[in-house]
Amino acid sequence: MSTETMTRAEAAPAVLPVGRYGYDQVDRTFLRERIEQFRDQVNRRIAGDLTEEEFKPLRLMNGLYLQLHAYMLRVAVPYGTLGSKQVRALARIAREFDKGYGHFTTRQNIQFNWIKLEDTVAALEVLAEADMHAIQTSGNCIRNITSDEFAGAAKDELLDPRVHAEILRQWSTLHPEFTFLPRKFKFAISGSPHDRVVARFHDIGLIARPGPHGRPVFEVFVGGGLGRTPLVGVSLRDDLPEEDLLAYMEAILRVYNAHGRRDNIYKARIKILVQALGTDEFRRQVEEEFAAMDRARYRIEPALVEAIKARFGAPDFAPEGNAAAVLAEDRRRDVRFDAWVRTNTHEHKAPGYISLVVSLKPAGGIPGDATAEQLDLLADLADEFSFGELRVTHLQNVVLGHVRQDQLHTVWQRLSQAGLGTANVNFITDIVACPGLDYCALANARSIPIAQKLSSRFADLELQREIGDLRINISGCINACGHHHAAHLGILGVDKRGQEAFQITLGGSGEEDASIGQILGPAMAEDETVDAVARLIDLYLVRRENGERFLDTYRRVGTAAFKDVVYAPA
Ligand code: HEM
Ligand code: SF4
Repeated sequence: MSTETMTRAEAAPAVLPVGRYGYDQVDRTFLRERIEQFRDQVNRRIAGDLTEEEFKPLRLMNGLYLQLHAYMLRVAVPYGTLGSKQVRALARIAREFDKGYGHFTTRQNIQFNWIKLEDTVAALEVLAEADMHAIQTSGNCIRNITSDEFAGAAKDELLDPRVHAEILRQWSTLHPEFTFLPRKFKFAISGSPHDRVVARFHDIGLIARPGPHGRPVFEVFVGGGLGRTPLVGVSLRDDLPEEDLLAYMEAILRVYNAHGRRDNIYKARIKILVQALGTDEFRRQVEEEFAAMDRARYRIEPALVEAIKARFGAPDFAPEGNAAAVLAEDRRRDVRFDAWVRTNTHEHKAPGYISLVVSLKPAGGIPGDATAEQLDLLADLADEFSFGELRVTHLQNVVLGHVRQDQLHTVWQRLSQAGLGTANVNFITDIVACPGLDYCALANARSIPIAQKLSSRFADLELQREIGDLRINISGCINACGHHHAAHLGILGVDKRGQEAFQITLGGSGEEDASIGQILGPAMAEDETVDAVARLIDLYLVRRENGERFLDTYRRVGTAAFKDVVYAPA
C-alpha cells in the first residue's frame, strides 16, 4: 500500500506512547524523504560541489549549525516531552557521534556540539527511527513549541497544554506561508496560572484555562523577548476561544510577516513591530486580518481536539494505597533524601503520585549536560517508574512526571549513584548557562566556567538552603540564550577591550511577575564577578525580612545598596 492510499487512521501505531503524540506512517515517510534529500546535499558538500555558503541554508533547515570548533546539531523536543526510546536514541547519538554527552538548552532542545559532517545523516536517521527530527530548529520560521515540564501532571494545572501544543506544532511545521518570516519565531504554551514557560518573554506566549461550555480559552501574550532589546510581552487578548486559536495565530503572524522589518536584523522581531505600532494599533491590525479571514477553514472543532487527545496515551494511575505514608516514612528515616524531596519534587494531581526534577547541575558541573550513560539511566527509570516518559525543562533540568510516592526513594538512590541526585532545584547552584565562548561562534565570553565556579563556591547545601530560591542565569553575549535578563541575578558576558568580562543584572523574573533585570554597573573579570555575587548574597542575607526571596529583598531595598556593596565595598 502506498502512503497516498493509506489513511492516517490505518497507519496509526497500535500502542500509543504515553504523554506524546504518536507518529504515523505518513510522518515517518516524510522524514525518510527529507533525510534522503539531505544525504545528497551532504555528499555534494563533502565532494566540494557545494561551498560552505551554498550548503549553509540547506544544513540550517536540518538544525545543523557551524560553531567555533565543529558542527552542532540542535534537536527539537516538542513541548519538552520525550519517550524512553527517544532518550535512548539521544544517548546513542551522544555516544556514537559526539563526545559522549548532549546539552539541554533553555528552549527544550538538546544540542550536540561535536558532530562530524560525515555523521550528520546517520544521526538524523537515529532520530527519525525514534520519531524525532531537527527541522525548524533554526532559521526564520516558527521554532520548537515549548511548554510546561509538569504538563498533565501538576496539581495547580487548569488544563493540559500539550494537546494544543501539538495542534500548534502540526500547524506550524512546514507552514508554507511562514517559512521565511522576518526573523525566528518562538511560541510557549502553559495551562497553569503559574507561568512555568516564560510566556511573557516569547514572540507568542499562551496561557490556557477552562472557558465557558467546558472549552479552553487562551490569554495571548505577544512581543516579549530577550536578546538585545528585552521586552515583556503585552496581553493581546485574554479570552481567545479554542476554536479560533489557529485563525488568530495566523492573523498575528500575517501582520508580522507583512510589516516586520526585514531591512535590519536587530529590528526584525515581532517585539519591535508591536513597540513601533503600539499595542492598540497592533491589536487593531490583527483583529482586522482575523475578521477578513475565512475562519471556518481554521476552526478547531471539538472532534479534532478529541482526535489529537486520543493520539496521546494517558497514564494509568494506580489507586492511592499507602504510597503517601511510605514516602513520609522514607523521608523521616533518611535526611538526605528528605532534603532532596523538599527541593526537587512537585505536587502531582493524582493521589499517591509525585513529579520529580533531576538536576543536571551537580556542584562544579556544566549546566544542562547529560552523558550517554545518564541518558540511558533516565530512560530506564522512565520505563520502570514513570510510564516511559521524560520531560526537559527550560531551566536545563529533566523531569520524571509521574512517580508513585512509595517508589521515590528507590528512584532517588538510583539517580544519586549516577551523580544525578543533587538537591538544588531553584537554589543558587541551579544555574542556567548558554554554551558561550566554549562553543558558540557569536559569544563574547565563556559562560560555562563562571557557572562552574559559582556552583562550586556555593556547593554547601546548608548555605544554599539558607539563601533559598535564587535564579542565576548566564549568557555569553547579548543574544541572551541563557535568559540572563529574566534571572533574579543575571550574568552577561561582554568583550571589554579584547578581554572577557561580565556584567551583572538584578531583579529579573521569567514568571507571572515578569520583569527585566537592571544592569548593576560596569563589567568585571571572571573572578571579580564571582566575588561580587558572594557580596550581593551577603547583603541580601543581612537585609532580608520575613522569609523574603533574594528577588523580594532586591525589589524592596532597591539597586543602590546592592550597587554599593559591589562597587564601593566598605
Ligand atoms: C550555539 C548556537 C547558538 C546560536 C548561534 C544562537 C543564536 C542566537 C541569536 C542570534 C539570538 C538572538 C535572536 C534575536 O534576538 O533575533 C538568540 C536568542 C536566543 N537563543 Fe540562541 N543561539 C545558540 C544557542 C542557544 C542555546 C544553547 C540556547 C539555550 C541554552 C539558546 C536559546 C536562545 C534564547 C532563549 C534566545 C532569546 C530569544 C529571544 O530573544 O526572545 N540559543 N540565539
Ligand atoms: S547568548 Fe550568545 S554566546 Fe550564548 S549561545 Fe546565545 S549567541 Fe551564543
